[in-house]
Amino acid sequence: MSNQRKILVTSALPYASGPLHLGHIVEFVQTDIWVRFQRLRGHQCIYVCADDAHGTPIMLSAREQGISPEELVAGFLESHTTDLAGFDISFDNFHSTHSTENTELVQGIFHKLDAAGHIARRTIVQAYDEKEGMFLPDRYVRGTCPNCGTEDQYGDSCESCGATYAPAELRDAVSVISGTKPVERESEHLFFRLENFEIMLRDWVTRLPDGVQRKLEEWFESGLQDWDISRDPPYFGIEVPGLPDHYFYVWLDAPVGYMASFKNLCERRDDLDFDEFWKPDSEAEVYHFIGKDIVYFHCLFWPAVLQGAGYRTPTSVFVHGFLQINGQKMSKRRKTFVTARQYLDKLSGEYLRYYYAAKLGAGVEDMDLNLDDFVQRVNADVVGKLVNIASRCAGFITRQFDGRLAQQLPDLPLYTRFADASERIAGLYEGREFSRAMREIMSLADEANRYIDEHKPWQAIKDPANRDAVHGVCTQGLNLFRALMIYLKPVLPGIAAASEEFLNAGEFRWDDVATPLLGSEIRKFKPLIRRIEAKQAQAILDVPTEPEPDKPAAEAADKHISIDQFLEIDLRVARVIEASYVDGADKLLQLTLDAGEEKRTVFAGIRSAYEPEQLRDRLVIVVANLAPRKMRFGVSEGMVLAAGPGGEDIFLVSPDSNAKPGMRVR
Ligand code: 2FM
Ligand code: ZN
Repeated sequence: MSNQRKILVTSALPYASGPLHLGHIVEFVQTDIWVRFQRLRGHQCIYVCADDAHGTPIMLSAREQGISPEELVAGFLESHTTDLAGFDISFDNFHSTHSTENTELVQGIFHKLDAAGHIARRTIVQAYDEKEGMFLPDRYVRGTCPNCGTEDQYGDSCESCGATYAPAELRDAVSVISGTKPVERESEHLFFRLENFEIMLRDWVTRLPDGVQRKLEEWFESGLQDWDISRDPPYFGIEVPGLPDHYFYVWLDAPVGYMASFKNLCERRDDLDFDEFWKPDSEAEVYHFIGKDIVYFHCLFWPAVLQGAGYRTPTSVFVHGFLQINGQKMSKRRKTFVTARQYLDKLSGEYLRYYYAAKLGAGVEDMDLNLDDFVQRVNADVVGKLVNIASRCAGFITRQFDGRLAQQLPDLPLYTRFADASERIAGLYEGREFSRAMREIMSLADEANRYIDEHKPWQAIKDPANRDAVHGVCTQGLNLFRALMIYLKPVLPGIAAASEEFLNAGEFRWDDVATPLLGSEIRKFKPLIRRIEAKQAQAILDVPTEPEPDKPAAEAADKHISIDQFLEIDLRVARVIEASYVDGADKLLQLTLDAGEEKRTVFAGIRSAYEPEQLRDRLVIVVANLAPRKMRFGVSEGMVLAAGPGGEDIFLVSPDSNAKPGMRVR
């Protein structure tokens, strides 16, 4: 194919510190539809992604779980790839930023930037936790806002008055990690001189969608600042070559992960050449799909870094909005946080692919997953309109005509109208106007259904004189179905594959629409998809009662303990009598427990996942013979058991409700 495009496409790299949720899936589905569309059109379209494996939160999360960061990210890499396969995301490669390719590329890029004078070195002062022996990122310092006096604010900005400041300006600052007061300490950092690229960037951004350009205009107005690209140890990241005790900031190595994943793929594929895609004058196209929160990184830093290091810049960056569920921000507390796994345990990924397609446009507006609307829309469109066309025609062809299609279409103009929609629909896909494409396709499906309704093959067949006519009508119906399925193949790959099998004429390509299928044999029709029951959809909001075992922790568990060691741990059922916040500790809740004897107080690091009201009266499991620990807020007499990686993903372990406080657990 002479006008075959070479296209490289990416989705933003998910952090390797938590499970994927339905918000991530919006982006993966959006990207995948676009990629599959390009491939269906005959272009070479390579889709790569990776896990974003570095940074302070990942390091700390691993430490909290008592495993190495490598173990933590390996566990999530597996869970991410499994979940993404459940949504049929057609990556050519899914790699990790914690890889040799990434290390080499990042270090090489740094050398080139440095040699070209784009790196500055400056000593800066940061908050330092002496107890933990580490510098504290702004988010890890909390205290009272110097501007309005609101307590418990992050080190960079106040959620109450919006003021921004340095952590040192907070009053009564504490380290979120150790609870101690941070001190100030100096260290040398590396800075990327973004302002060197202002002229190039002002030109480059004109290729972006309008809404994104407007946002960037504001940033140009407020001036491009140097970007701090190094971090002090301890850090889980890539070392700065030749500069001991310096690591690259995760946001420098993350987008390089796009190249690293592609490079890793090239090593396995003879037909792909890394340089052909990344050299400065490359004719290949490169697109990044991202969410609106990370535009600065992708539309300023990233193209500047690429340019500065002698690589090509992205052809464009496609930005989408956030996902809401039933009109609410996703949140555990509101029970609107749905992991990809929770969804896949109840429903096929194909349904959600269609729903997202039916709602996605090219803009940055947020999208709402309303579960009632989801059920109604998928059932009406995919089952009621689309699949119905095939199921109403297939049986006659199989039973009455030996499974063979007629030699001619009785209504060629109708078929031609379907075929003529091809370029219009292709234009909508190309421009990421998927919801408009779905409307266009579904209005054609309405036409196809009207055609069958008018010709009523189920009645006509009763009169033997109508045999040929019925043969024609059903052949027409199946050809209309085939055209629709070709148009929908990027969105519904599973149903499309089943339809290819049923129509028995090979894999669909976009241009096949031009030629109807005549005189050939089809296979027996099998139901392509089932209706969604409203109950099934609502069930995705049910938080699993049996918390999933933590993958990385489970993998780390091959160090055995003896039964005696196990029995030394006195695990007891306890009832939460009282639960409250702890002043000055934003991770803790104070629990008063009835564990059978006298009451005991436990400070539990579960505030990010639970409100005190949710806990009163709840049964938990407590480690009753843990040595009491003196904390800043009081003495903690034990520990409650919980599963999960942390943050909102903490799940308390509870026995059945008829267990009694004080019962021994074993
Ligand atoms: O915001 C995030 O979830 C980041 N992990 C995205 C990284 S995208 C790219 F730069 F790697
Ligand atoms: Zn304030």
